[in-house]
Amino acid sequence: MTQPLKAVRVSEHVYWVGAIDWAIRDFHGYSTEQGTTYNAYLILGDKVTLVDTVKPAFVDELMSRISSVIEPSRIDYIISNHSEMDHSGSLPAVVDRVRPERVFASPMGVKALADHFQLNAPVASVKDGESMSLGNLSVGFTETRMVHWPDSMFSFLLDDGVLFSNDAFGMHLATSQRFDDEVSGWEYQAAKYYANILMPLSLVIAKTLAKVEALKLPIKVIAPDHGFIWRKDLETIVSLYSRWSAQKRNTSAVVAYDTMWGSTATMATAISEGLSSEGVRNKLMPLKGCNRSEVITELLEAGAVVVGAPTMNNNIFPPMADLLTYLKGLKPRNLIGAAFGSYGWSGEAVGQIREYLSAAGVEMPLEGLKVKFVPREQDLADCFQMGSSLARILKEAAAIDLSAPAATTREAPIPR
Ligand code: FEO
Repeated sequence: MTQPLKAVRVSEHVYWVGAIDWAIRDFHGYSTEQGTTYNAYLILGDKVTLVDTVKPAFVDELMSRISSVIEPSRIDYIISNHSEMDHSGSLPAVVDRVRPERVFASPMGVKALADHFQLNAPVASVKDGESMSLGNLSVGFTETRMVHWPDSMFSFLLDDGVLFSNDAFGMHLATSQRFDDEVSGWEYQAAKYYANILMPLSLVIAKTLAKVEALKLPIKVIAPDHGFIWRKDLETIVSLYSRWSAQKRNTSAVVAYDTMWGSTATMATAISEGLSSEGVRNKLMPLKGCNRSEVITELLEAGAVVVGAPTMNNNIFPPMADLLTYLKGLKPRNLIGAAFGSYGWSGEAVGQIREYLSAAGVEMPLEGLKVKFVPREQDLADCFQMGSSLARILKEAAAIDLSAPAATTREAPIPR
């Protein structure tokens, strides 16, 4: 590192000493078109404490920012809130340079760190609800299992009211500003982060929100490990998490498709028209122009997903198999859907799409729609009908309670 970098003061005793990754465009399969940050924090107590580290390639940036405040060898403790590599990847290098007295992690974190590294420092566990003295300051710990991994925990600096929330309340967004009141237009990135990282953990997140609320911590600042720090708009991000974790849905739809020679694209357009004819806002998402993580973001609050792909060599056209595998893992709740696609000889793709959607928990009230080679006028009328029928079902479900678990799977021919 040739140029010294600066820490940013967060509160009386806390400095941000993280790294800004302006260049990353793929975060384990999630498109990060606006980069990200790996936030780490330095607590200047009698016992100087580093909260989390950064991705391995950014260790020099971390050390440089620490050095702008304090000689790194003065760090006594390191708290590891989560062992995933974007937060612990540079821990071995930091430990070797700093030689801390001890590294602290949750009981699951101690095991996870041991499974990742051989650290040249003792690693001790801190329990849920435990507090630790830094001499003049006190840090409390709350286990937040599965937000994002089993080892995840929050740390809380009681004296300054700073909650170190690790993966929660963050987003993949690189900015030169560090605080929420300095950044605008972040909402899409917050939703994208929730949809792609946290959506399958929504039930746990709802419980974690309730658990932290019950602790009645005097939180003044939420300091996550990605994106900017919340010092003004804390309520906004917490209420967004409350809303997203409930997985309540609106009456909009996403039509995701891929096409070989244009037939499935033509079908997708007719289905979109059918949805629109019933006043259902919808978005056509051709996979040739959309990353899987963008489709998932649109599905965070949409009520319906319509998926189309041609059959290729007796299988789903591969880019769509990619999206469906991803969707299945993210387990969206309370979604309805339908499948369509063109084919030349065998036409297995539509049935396979339905199997994926069913495995993902998507309720499918309509039969799939297949068209041989090129859609004719009647085929396009059927596609339109699929869209308008699904729109009516969606509106009816929303009028009842779309967030309630589906009692039955409705299977019916497309009404004409
Ligand atoms: Fe940002 Fe689960 O790591």
